[in-house]
Amino acid sequence: MRLLREKIEQEGIVLSDGVLKVDSFLNHQIDPILMKEIGLEFARRFEADGITKIVTIESSGISPAVMAGLELGVKVVFARKRKSLTLTNNLLVSSVYSFTKQEENNIAVSSQFLSQEDRVLIIDDFLANGEAAKGLVDIVNQSGATVTGIGIVIEKSFQKGAQELVDLGHRVESLAKIASLKEGKVSFVEQLEE
Ligand code: G4P
Ligand code: NA
Ligand code: NA
Repeated sequence: MRLLREKIEQEGIVLSDGVLKVDSFLNHQIDPILMKEIGLEFARRFEADGITKIVTIESSGISPAVMAGLELGVKVVFARKRKSLTLTNNLLVSSVYSFTKQEENNIAVSSQFLSQEDRVLIIDDFLANGEAAKGLVDIVNQSGATVTGIGIVIEKSFQKGAQELVDLGHRVESLAKIASLKEGKVSFVEQLEE
């Protein structure tokens, strides 16, 4: 997605060989115009797949997921990372290891928002080692619904998540694919679609 790549080139800050900071449009401040285009692009890629629900994880997955849900005409559920006062019964829970924080955390979705008939599109902002995505897949599987695809805004292709999800049989659609962040420079995977 050309617009996204340009935004990353203009505003992304390479913090280390492994981490890209995109606080100006995705992880802190949000650019609604870019996010609308991201939603359109996810909808274009998954419009033929009979998606009935989008599942994401708080907090940065929510804005691209809502824009995609608007375009696809389906509701969006976000997994919670912290215990909620009101989210109490019939929880689907999965344990997710965070490499950045080096700890296991539970994520949870209420079973009332997923049914066996659902065809789910999982959306997240970043794909690194794929722990969050695998936790969401686990939750969707627990509900009996079908994981129809995984949509990612920024994939770090040099980490293992994307390949592992593909090896598990999932269709992964990433709007920007980063091959390397070495020497303070963002290098994208060559993409032929534009
Ligand atoms: P994984 O799920 O793919 O295994 O990722 P990991 O545990 O390494 O990532 C933990 C958090 O860091 C996630 O956000 C993830 O989206 C984010 N992240 C991973 N790599 C990068 C990166 O290079 N740049 C940025 N900006 N974020 C990255 P989170 O803690 O769940 O935060 P949020 O969704 O509330 O923003
Ligand atoms: Na994040
Ligand atoms: Na995220």
